[in-house]
Amino acid sequence: MNVLITGGTGFIGSHLARFLHKKGENVTLFDIEPDLGLVDDIRCELGLVKGDLACLSDLLSAVKNNKVEIIYHTGALLSAKAEKYPVAGFRTNLIGTFNVLEAARLFDVEMVIFPSSIAAFGEGVSNPVPNEAYQRPTTMYGVAKVAGEMLGEYYHRRFEVNFRCLRLPSVVGPGRGSGGVSAYSTLMIEKPARGESYQVYVGQNSRMPILYIKDALRAFSGLQKADEAKLKRRVYNIGGISPTAGQIAESVRRHVKGARLEFNPDRGMQAIVDSWPEALDETRAREEWGWVVKYRLDDMVEDFVKEVRSFGG
Ligand SMILES: NC(=O)c1ccc[n+]([C@@H]2O[C@H](COP(=O)([O-])OP(=O)(O)OC[C@H]3O[C@@H](n4cnc5c(N)ncnc54)[C@H](O)[C@@H]3O)[C@@H](O)[C@H]2O)c1
Repeated sequence: MNVLITGGTGFIGSHLARFLHKKGENVTLFDIEPDLGLVDDIRCELGLVKGDLACLSDLLSAVKNNKVEIIYHTGALLSAKAEKYPVAGFRTNLIGTFNVLEAARLFDVEMVIFPSSIAAFGEGVSNPVPNEAYQRPTTMYGVAKVAGEMLGEYYHRRFEVNFRCLRLPSVVGPGRGSGGVSAYSTLMIEKPARGESYQVYVGQNSRMPILYIKDALRAFSGLQKADEAKLKRRVYNIGGISPTAGQIAESVRRHVKGARLEFNPDRGMQAIVDSWPEALDETRAREEWGWVVKYRLDDMVEDFVKEVRSFGG
């Protein structure tokens, strides 16, 4: 199939590109700042379009010229950047998602898959957060995620665009980098695996839902393949696992001899992590399309360390 991945040279987009390319799909990446570092070895086998999500004509040309059948819409400004530059956050994340849906409608794209986020909830929700919980986010990133979910539902209802959405927790894996407050869960594993020390900026008891990138790819693939007749909604919580930072450290010490991890909580970072739900209820995804997490904490740490050591991450 002809697949377009918006934000295709970012962390999740690059992993998706490799995963779909391996499956024999014809993959084109769409990105405003294409950096092919994470897919350097397969760059000649991927299509590449430099374009801006906020610019409808860029998307229309990309979809038309590449006869796109599925769009994985992973392009976005992440939370910290969208909060620092709210107008850019609005254009990229909200208008960008609208433009993706318009391009899908106009060119009869078969499916649009969109990663929403735990940030779409905001405060005051119960733990674990039910699939249909009240959503009152207070950040531009969260507001745009809720709007994206609802626009997708609207395009599905009104124009029969096959919109499907995963609400992801923090995704952990090689290439994630240090962007975003949730990055500590990745860096606590990646730094020791590279022989570097790491100062964890939250306390040992901090708990946040996380998902290994290989499980995120399984979730995207599972939702894409799900039987339409069994789907009762368009948006699904993916809970992953919810270890404390202390439990992640213990697992890392089990897998990396002499791992140097020190806890040095930062009040500001801690407050942000404390404002997030500790767990997402993924019952609906399990019931309607058979989602089950594969990588528990020790499996995730073991595999991540192996990846970094074999391929440099
Ligand atoms: N990483 C996580 O833990 C996580 C968790 C939940 C949801 N998500 C969502 O998954 C998606 C991908 O996240 P990621 O971690 O890969 O982020 P990323 O920052 O690594 O990748 C985003 C990509 O989008 C591109 N982009 C930004 N503005 C653009 C524009 N105007 N036009 C075209 N491309 C543009 C960037 O250049 C980048 O390559 C995002 O929608 C994010 O909100 C991520």
